[in-house]
Amino acid sequence: MEVILSQQKNADCQITVHYEGTVVKCNPDKSVLDNLLDQSLAVNHSCKKGVCLTCLLKTDDKVDVKSRAPLKATLIEQGYFLSCQQVPIEGMMIKSAQSTDFFQQALVSNRIEKSGYVSQIFLKPYGDFSYKPGQFINIKGPNDIVRSYSIASIPSDNVIEIHVKEHQYGVVSRWLCSDKIIGQEIEISAANGECFYLPDNQDQPMLMIGTGTGLAPLLGILRDSQSQNHRGKIELYFGAVDEAGLYLADQLRDLEAEYIHLTVHFGTLKEGPINDMALKNHPNLKGWRVFLCGDPEMVKKTKTKAYLADAALSDIYADAFDLAEISS
Ligand SMILES: Cc1cc2nc3c(=O)[nH]c(=O)nc-3n(C[C@H](O)[C@H](O)[C@H](O)COP(=O)(O)OP(=O)(O)OC[C@H]3O[C@@H](n4cnc5c(N)ncnc54)[C@H](O)[C@@H]3O)c2cc1C
Ligand code: FES
Repeated sequence: MEVILSQQKNADCQITVHYEGTVVKCNPDKSVLDNLLDQSLAVNHSCKKGVCLTCLLKTDDKVDVKSRAPLKATLIEQGYFLSCQQVPIEGMMIKSAQSTDFFQQALVSNRIEKSGYVSQIFLKPYGDFSYKPGQFINIKGPNDIVRSYSIASIPSDNVIEIHVKEHQYGVVSRWLCSDKIIGQEIEISAANGECFYLPDNQDQPMLMIGTGTGLAPLLGILRDSQSQNHRGKIELYFGAVDEAGLYLADQLRDLEAEYIHLTVHFGTLKEGPINDMALKNHPNLKGWRVFLCGDPEMVKKTKTKAYLADAALSDIYADAFDLAEISS
């Protein structure tokens, strides 16, 4: 027998869906995810913007193109869709995601504490793991809460490096940045995301702007471009609130010394936003490839400004680190 959940007094809930043996009365103007959360059904989620892929659910019913657009063919084949990007459809049968479909185990081999509450964390996946530097993985933390972290390493490192900023009340970041994490076996997803280096035009100049741990994907992309003999100039702008937030300055200076095409610029808020500094120095981005990573507001604003400065939309790669909403 199915349990029936609905906001009985809410006339907006006119659509019925079936979720794991529960009949849920849904508001057609809200996403499947928000409808399930409204009924206190536990569904993993973080960004609610179709980026992090933590809200995957399964259905055999037809769904909107945008709820599957960022997914790999193997996940689509199995019926997965992004519940934050899908509105409910009358009679829809929905199942929760099978962890084993996309998580694998990895050993946390090391954690190095840096300044600015950031840790470099090194993971050794059990079994094959392929990725493009700059993509992100999802990590399952305490209470099966899933969060995304970008990859700073390149495959020849034989270890996955991520940079995690510890948030004061953050469930997964505090767990990853704790002393006890080294030696633990954790669950990680396959790598996802479109923010990575393509060796299709090795003379193209590249502008990279990152704030905070937005440096992680940029470092991966930089090192990948170096290993693939990129010849165009690369201007990296790394910004943080204060000096402590420039947590990997020494490593970047070393990389700048050995990679002749690379120039690194550092900035703290005292000198003004790093994206403003970058765009002031590069007012014409025609023909440039642009990478923007980190703070969602910075990424959104700079994407528009880069486009207005003549960068082609297809040459702008953006990775916004959206945080989960805090429930009241
Ligand atoms: C594509 C993508 C890539 C990303 N890559 C990275 C990366 O490389 N490195 C990185 O560090 N992060 C990255 N992030 C962000 C990361 O996924 C997490 O969102 C982040 O680590 C916070 O997760 P959490 O579980 O620790 O915090 P949550 O528990 O989700 O909390 C979210 C925020 O709310 C605050 N908060 C929670 N509860 C309260 C409360 N009661 N009162 C006040 N404040 C509260 C927390 O301090 C935190 O700032 C990425 C995100 C995306 C979408
Ligand atoms: S993609 Fe749906 S919550 Fe992030």
